[in-house]
Amino acid sequence: MMEFNDQKVAIVTGANKGLGLAIAKNFVNEGKKTVFVIRNKENLEQTKQLFQKEAEQDQVMFCQLDVSDIDGIQEVVSHILSKWGRIDILVNNAGIRFETPIEEIHEEEWDHVLSVNLKSTFFFSQAVIPAMKERKWGRIINMSSFGGQAGPLTSGAHYSASKAGQIALSKAFARSLAAYGITVNAVAPASVRTPEMDKMDPDKLAQMIETIPLKRVGEPQEVADLVSYLASESGGFTTGATFDLNGGRLMR
Ligand SMILES: NC(=O)c1ccc[n+]([C@@H]2O[C@H](COP(=O)([O-])OP(=O)(O)OC[C@H]3O[C@@H](n4cnc5c(N)ncnc54)[C@H](O)[C@@H]3O)[C@@H](O)[C@H]2O)c1
Repeated sequence: MMEFNDQKVAIVTGANKGLGLAIAKNFVNEGKKTVFVIRNKENLEQTKQLFQKEAEQDQVMFCQLDVSDIDGIQEVVSHILSKWGRIDILVNNAGIRFETPIEEIHEEEWDHVLSVNLKSTFFFSQAVIPAMKERKWGRIINMSSFGGQAGPLTSGAHYSASKAGQIALSKAFARSLAAYGITVNAVAPASVRTPEMDKMDPDKLAQMIETIPLKRVGEPQEVADLVSYLASESGGFTTGATFDLNGGRLMR
């Protein structure tokens, strides 16, 4: 029987800018109830301003959270469930990247990168499983990177390891959750436009673009549209996969 109210609830971490904002905007435009997980208060308030109409309609929720805070993750998940009663989609998008050379990576920076990029992916996914299992439907999408597949172009080894770890976690969760109608996939972008890229020296940017077979950078909307597909009903036969979005940098 068709459910009367099938408005899905989607969580996007790091949803105040870049890929996370584009992904969350898509979900809002698709009519999903969307939770914006944002680390700092100022960014949260700025992002809220963009969705005032949707806030009045109870279609968006804003949660302040540093995703490396595991207790905080559980609190956010409990809050969403108490308010909206379900969680259908999780996009583990929040991430940090440093270009520190191998010889200069100290333990504190290693732990920080692995904690924000990888540990949060594990514990946020773990926290939403019971709600997804209950409805026998779920979508988890992990924002990995080309750096996790082929080794980093400019990023540090810790970033690369964390992104490779996200691909492994996607497969582990995919196998374990397939029987419950929950799919888990990774997206591996490279050279997709972010506000930082617009601040780059134009000559350096042009040189970088020259190394991309499609001779352009990617757009956040292109990543968001792929994530929307993976989060949709149509994406239901795809799990444990890694989707390349890199202008042809890596062909496999
Ligand atoms: N843009 C690209 O070409 C590209 C390439 C490969 C991978 N990625 C991945 O895509 C994701 C989004 O990247 P982006 O390009 O939009 O970068 P970005 O730096 O613009 O966005 C990262 C987001 O994560 C948030 N964040 C960082 N640490 C956090 C924490 N501790 N708690 C909560 N939020 C936190 C930031 O506030 C920001 O909103 C990242 O995981 C990144 O590694 C992007």
